[in-house]
Amino acid sequence: MKIAVLPGDGIGPEIIAQAVKVMNALRSDGFPIELEYGHLGGAGYDAAGDPFPAATEQLSKESDAVLLGAVGGYQYDNLPRPMRPEQGLLRIRKGLGLFANLRPAMVYPELVNASSLKPELVAGLNIMILRELTGDIYFGQPRGIRTLENGERQGFDTMHYSESEIRRVAHVGFKAALKRGKKLCSVDKANVLDTSMFWREIVSDVAKEYPQVELSHMYVDNAAMQLVRAPKQFDVILTGNIFGDILSDEASMLTGSIGMLPSASLDSNNKGLYEPCHGSAPDIAGKDIANPLATILSVAMMMRYTFEREDVAQRIETAVRKTLQNGLRTGDIYEAGTQKVGCAAMGDAVVASL
Ligand code: IPM
Ligand code: MG
Repeated sequence: MKIAVLPGDGIGPEIIAQAVKVMNALRSDGFPIELEYGHLGGAGYDAAGDPFPAATEQLSKESDAVLLGAVGGYQYDNLPRPMRPEQGLLRIRKGLGLFANLRPAMVYPELVNASSLKPELVAGLNIMILRELTGDIYFGQPRGIRTLENGERQGFDTMHYSESEIRRVAHVGFKAALKRGKKLCSVDKANVLDTSMFWREIVSDVAKEYPQVELSHMYVDNAAMQLVRAPKQFDVILTGNIFGDILSDEASMLTGSIGMLPSASLDSNNKGLYEPCHGSAPDIAGKDIANPLATILSVAMMMRYTFEREDVAQRIETAVRKTLQNGLRTGDIYEAGTQKVGCAAMGDAVVASL
């Protein structure tokens, strides 16, 4: 199991260190885990003048899976766009062909009160957002800022989805639904956008191969509302890159903290990049207060999807559950009556539970 480890920026190195403790514990149990470190984002810019250095690209391509912390920091905010940390993230996704981004939003019973919604709305919540990750307005050309004939300046981007891009991610969505609650809700803006009209047509066509899955379609504005009105109506949500970006942040708050949400970004062979859904949180970097659980749970997803070790995935998830049951909380999920711990102590506790 050759894993490229890219700590990145901000709290990235701290949370990655906890996930590495978990992987080291698995290795001492006999798992052939091999770790090799690389730079991405601001760390890549600092080390090699590029947010996605060639060495990182090579390491990532040679590895079976990539574990990423987070990228971004104030000191990079004024760099020209190609040098900004986020470009490193977009390029590694595109460069490795990671088109299927799985963002599960699950409410742990121990954290039901940490949600910003009423406990009865979120208790037992378990939804999977499947976001297309390498197309859409994120990558469409042309884009830029131009001056029109009348002298006015204009910013512009291009949204498009080709049939093959929609088909392949739709298949991932239907297959995921088959393994879960057998419901797939495809989210688009087909009442306004041609790209979405086409998306809907292709998803409906792919659905014919999955008669066991109940398909519905929803406009993205309504989906944003339904997620906070009655989130348990959803099983798998399939959507494009930009809508998925927005809806997955929204869904994270249902679970109590974005600090709990792992993600997997997969190519067509289930090779993947695993990262917490949250960002680099530069304001709390280096203070040992970040929540490492999303990163540790990302290792669980890696075991599940890339290495097909459901048993190991569940072992890690159970260790996280136990740690929460034991009352340990980082600041983002703290409530009265629990024990507040730092990032490193949380990592140690998960290893102990493991
Ligand atoms: C995410 C992030 C990224 C995105 C940013 C950092 C480029 O918000 O992973 O959701 O928009 O995809
Ligand atoms: Mg986002």
